[in-house]
Amino acid sequence: MGSGLEMAIALVFGYLCGTIPFGLLLTKAAGLGDIRTIGSGNIGATNVLRTGNKKVAALTLLLDALKGTVPAALMGWLYGPEAGVLGGLAAFFGHLFPMWLGFKGGKGVATSIGVLFGLFWPLGVTFLAVWIAMALMFRISSLSALTASLLSPFAAWALGRGDLILPAVIMGAAIFVTHRANIARLLRGEEPRIGRSKTA
Ligand code: G3P
Repeated sequence: MGSGLEMAIALVFGYLCGTIPFGLLLTKAAGLGDIRTIGSGNIGATNVLRTGNKKVAALTLLLDALKGTVPAALMGWLYGPEAGVLGGLAAFFGHLFPMWLGFKGGKGVATSIGVLFGLFWPLGVTFLAVWIAMALMFRISSLSALTASLLSPFAAWALGRGDLILPAVIMGAAIFVTHRANIARLLRGEEPRIGRSKTA
């Protein structure tokens, strides 16, 4: 394990990376308005897609993922695997609770994929593969994310990375919490398909 200072650096660096609200910044820069007043109000790529601008949505997805990958991989490389996990989790929670936005951030899916890629890329690939398979079948972003989040601890175990089960459980549990309104809509059969608009 890294020293106390190294772990503190991982925590602060990861958190600050995670707080960059790319969805909000990119939609504003593209003149698409404040993403928090559009669709679900979420700052993530799924909601950015509801503006109709696929390029900005794709860029949001990429950058929201990278802000998890960079601290997870860099802190792990510099200070050891525990620092990588701490840096990655700090980025994930930075996305959920960014101090620049009154601690009201996103739902964490893209950043969690990025963190998993940074910690152990086969786990990131597995999460993404489950997400894509579910999205192709049902075309519902939240359902895809919830399924992938549920399976990721089992995937960590199956891939021989027992040390990553707990980080996967923590991010997966948090993703279920951030998606509680989506879960309620899914149960009512009212969750919109990818790219469709909604107001709630
Ligand atoms: O990644 C977030 C997605 O799972 C749900 O987003 O905007 O439909 O609530 P949204």
